[in-house]
Amino acid sequence: MKKCPADFDFFNEETLNCPYEFYRTLQEQAPVYQLPDTNIFMVSRHADVKQLLKDTETYSNNFNELLKGPEPAPEVTAIYARAWQPVDTMITADPPRHRAYRTLVNKVFNAKRVNAMESYMRTIVHELIDSFIDNGKCDFIREFTTPLPVYVIADQLGVPRKDLKDFKRWSDSFARRLSQLATPEEQVEDAENIVAFQFYFADMIAERREHPRDDMISDLVSTTIVDPDNGETRPLNMEELQSLLQQLMVAGNETTTSAITGGMVSLIQNPEQLRALQEDPGKIPNAVEEILRMESPSAGMWRVVKKDSEVHGVRIPQGSLLMLRYHAANRDRALFQDPNAIDVDRGNADDHIAFGQGIHYCPGAMLARKEMNVAFEALLSRLTDFAIDMEKSDLTYWPNVVLRGMKELHITFHKREHHLDSNLQAEQLAEA
Ligand code: HEM
Repeated sequence: MKKCPADFDFFNEETLNCPYEFYRTLQEQAPVYQLPDTNIFMVSRHADVKQLLKDTETYSNNFNELLKGPEPAPEVTAIYARAWQPVDTMITADPPRHRAYRTLVNKVFNAKRVNAMESYMRTIVHELIDSFIDNGKCDFIREFTTPLPVYVIADQLGVPRKDLKDFKRWSDSFARRLSQLATPEEQVEDAENIVAFQFYFADMIAERREHPRDDMISDLVSTTIVDPDNGETRPLNMEELQSLLQQLMVAGNETTTSAITGGMVSLIQNPEQLRALQEDPGKIPNAVEEILRMESPSAGMWRVVKKDSEVHGVRIPQGSLLMLRYHAANRDRALFQDPNAIDVDRGNADDHIAFGQGIHYCPGAMLARKEMNVAFEALLSRLTDFAIDMEKSDLTYWPNVVLRGMKELHITFHKREHHLDSNLQAEQLAEA
């Protein structure tokens, strides 16, 4: 019998692991669907998500307060009180406030800077592969897809590699705080980590004020902003700098990790697709778009409903929450044929909205795409005969409604004979 939306529980781990039937049911029967016993309205069609993203007056990104959850223990509040308090800059800001900060970030996170990163990225990717290639197997998430984005963004910002161990710990605490699944002990640990992150950056900010370099932190400390409240031109204050650095440092890690991990799984499970890329690496950029479409690691984003509205005849009262489901939209049959199958030659793969759209469009999109391209080029040129070690990888996802990421992926492979990394070869030839 045909299922209806009420047959699914969105928050159930089983649905989160494999939501595709739920998405299709919603798209066909209830494109704007109020999740039972909640004030959350889920939007699942590609065209609707795109449309609603434009209306920033009705659907606000200022979801900080709503998602704060229950009052933390006094011990936790006391730890946070030692550092700088959160301010709304990019992801939780609405216009006109959002624009003031986003303009700055677009300026410092520019194409020239991202393009200049390519050879460094390539070096990192090859070093990571070197570290496990002789073993014939690897813990793909821990040995490859997790360190890669952390090394890259830390370098962009200007954080020395020796400090990266702390960095990962701090970054994980931000993610766990967002998930609201931390135990009381973990909440204390997270607060300590987040405050440590802030003090680390405060020192770095002070150092860059004295001795600016060619990195993003130096750019941010030396730039000025038109104050969104009073129109005065002034440097960014410490709360604003902390907020921007946190977002730049944390937003791209788990998402990029999940995109490369999920892409690898799809390719291994579809060997003819993988072979097509090995035979013609020129197809990798389109494959990256297809992987972003399918994985959509930023699976859904919240919007707070500021005014009563109505979509497809469904009344959405002020104060409700929208869950804009990017992951569903990117598998909408209205736009993508056979959407649950990976097709590296798909003609419209880049119609996906995995990076959002409109004013909050991901500022890290260019960087993430480049990392994915460099990673797949290197992996597929140096390794072959991939297989998933199913004893160690059950291919399930973390229970998280916003970020979609696989828990474990262990793979085996062989070294590719006479591997040809065209870019490396080109560099070597140029040097000779
Ligand atoms: C595959 C990797 C990535 C995916 C899928 C992704 C996805 C997204 C999405 C969907 C949004 C829009 C959120 C909304 O609708 O409210 C967003 C915003 C954002 N992303 Fe990414 N992202 C990725 C990588 C990165 C990287 C590498 C960085 C930074 C280095 C980054 C930094 C940000 C920031 C700061 C925002 C907020 C922008 C704003 O509100 O104006 N992301 N990202």
